[in-house]
Amino acid sequence: MTHEFDAVIVGAGGAGLYAALEASKTARTAVVSKLYPTRSHTGAAQGGIGAALGNVDQDSPEWHAFDTVKGGDYLVDQQAARILAEEAVQAVYDLENRGLPFSRTPDGRIDQRRFGGHTRNFGEAPVHRSCYAADRTGNMILQTLYQQCIKNDVHFYDEFQVVEVFLDGTRVAGVAAFELATGEVHVFKAKAVMFATGGFGRMFRITSNAHANTGDGPALLARVGIPLEDMEFFQFHPTGIRGMGILITEGVRGEGGILRNSKGERFMERYAPTLLDLAPRDMVSRAIMTEVIEGRGIRGDGRIDDWVMLDASHLGRETVYAKIPDIADFCKTYLGVDPAEAPMPVQPTAHYAMGGIPTDIDGRVCTDTTVYAGLYAAGECACVSVHGANRLGTNSLVDLVVYGRRAGRHIADYVRSADHSRLPADAGDAARERIATLKKSRGPHPGPLYERMQQTMMARIGVYREREQMEEAVAEIRQLREEFQQVRVQDNSANYNQEVLGILELENLLDLSLVTAVSALNRTESRGAHSRKDFPERDDVSWLKHTLAFLNGSDVSIDYKAVDTSIWEPKPRTY
Ligand code: FUM
Repeated sequence: MTHEFDAVIVGAGGAGLYAALEASKTARTAVVSKLYPTRSHTGAAQGGIGAALGNVDQDSPEWHAFDTVKGGDYLVDQQAARILAEEAVQAVYDLENRGLPFSRTPDGRIDQRRFGGHTRNFGEAPVHRSCYAADRTGNMILQTLYQQCIKNDVHFYDEFQVVEVFLDGTRVAGVAAFELATGEVHVFKAKAVMFATGGFGRMFRITSNAHANTGDGPALLARVGIPLEDMEFFQFHPTGIRGMGILITEGVRGEGGILRNSKGERFMERYAPTLLDLAPRDMVSRAIMTEVIEGRGIRGDGRIDDWVMLDASHLGRETVYAKIPDIADFCKTYLGVDPAEAPMPVQPTAHYAMGGIPTDIDGRVCTDTTVYAGLYAAGECACVSVHGANRLGTNSLVDLVVYGRRAGRHIADYVRSADHSRLPADAGDAARERIATLKKSRGPHPGPLYERMQQTMMARIGVYREREQMEEAVAEIRQLREEFQQVRVQDNSANYNQEVLGILELENLLDLSLVTAVSALNRTESRGAHSRKDFPERDDVSWLKHTLAFLNGSDVSIDYKAVDTSIWEPKPRTY
């Protein structure tokens, strides 16, 4: 079956929905999503969206942009960060006007809470900048934008997994997608295609990411020769539920929660004397791992799966249940712990990809030499790059709203004058054959490969890294990619075949794991979330540059791109 639209948006999280909303003002727009839209992973973003509204403390977008650049260890493209911070303010008011139920100050304005790395006056002290809806901010964004898209007659293709992108030279022509309900492959012809497929945290064993976060967009584009930017920078959020990785929002610390080791010490006093528990995530995750490795984790045996405690019990029952009700529920359900009464056991959890598909400030996929006409990306799967080497909390929601909206507006304009590109006559056939092959011959189940990938990435490309371990990771992932060629489904039914979906997703994760591991091995410095024991210092002379990694079969070749440092000169980071 072939469908024709002006614009096809792949992914129905915050970036995809905002882009669809803008594009649909003038363009016939479809959203193709592997999930029902309001189940997208944006819904898991808890603590808020940063914007310098100044409702609680004095604030300015310039301070927000500076914090973003410094938090990203100066690998951030600074004009992109300036746009992010400036447009965040209007974006939040737009969401409010569209009906988003933000939590309120006593005088009725949007309430704001503190978050890691967000400061007043260029680092003086934490600032209340995160606009929030209890601990359900991302979910509220999804609900709000989805309703608006329905109102604008956006066409939704839910539970469709995109499996191929069609390029005509450097112009996009469309995509093919596998319909989960029927097992059919559909072809979507479009003048513009935007990827907003989210992150790929499922490559790690302990992760806050949903099962669907398998990097489908970046992997598809990498396979047609488009480089991926800064893939070595993967964020570990300091506070995942021990052993499970489920997110405990940084908003807990924003409300006054405190991290403690086995001796009851507030250990962040030693690592970030000014911002304490509200230092940027890379620093807090490293501090936790150092406590653990040095035997001050709760178990005290120095193994990397030990944990520390996050204490919010002193905040009082009323605050806990008003400000972090979902966290309270998660902790009671999964741990049998009521955070109003007892501390929560936490460990760093793989949370966010700073790198991804390279774009310009209008969401156009591009390198220094090529702009791919009609091809866009925004949100976590993209790299514009506003997060550099380490993202500040709340800036993911800002990124997807600001840059999703900008991409949608550009698409609306682009499709007015663009023609459709040439779609291959046999478009979709390769995907059909591939799926038929998975079903007709016998082979091993993909489960064990999935587990080995997650173990390898967690143990060897984690919070702390070093050469030998990363080399082992690269070798193991290469081996897994070879073994993957033999995997087959055990169930060959047509409808809702989750095994076919799982194999397609595993392929994407394996490709991105290889690119991530090779990019990490290649960068011989420590910066932001990329922390090497064998190269512990940041090295601006050699490494103040973005990585561009090209996937060629089992090889990854590396090139570089300049960082925009046009506003602030890079300085050492202290907090
Ligand atoms: O901690 C959190 O609520 C997560 C927010 C984020 O990743 O921006």
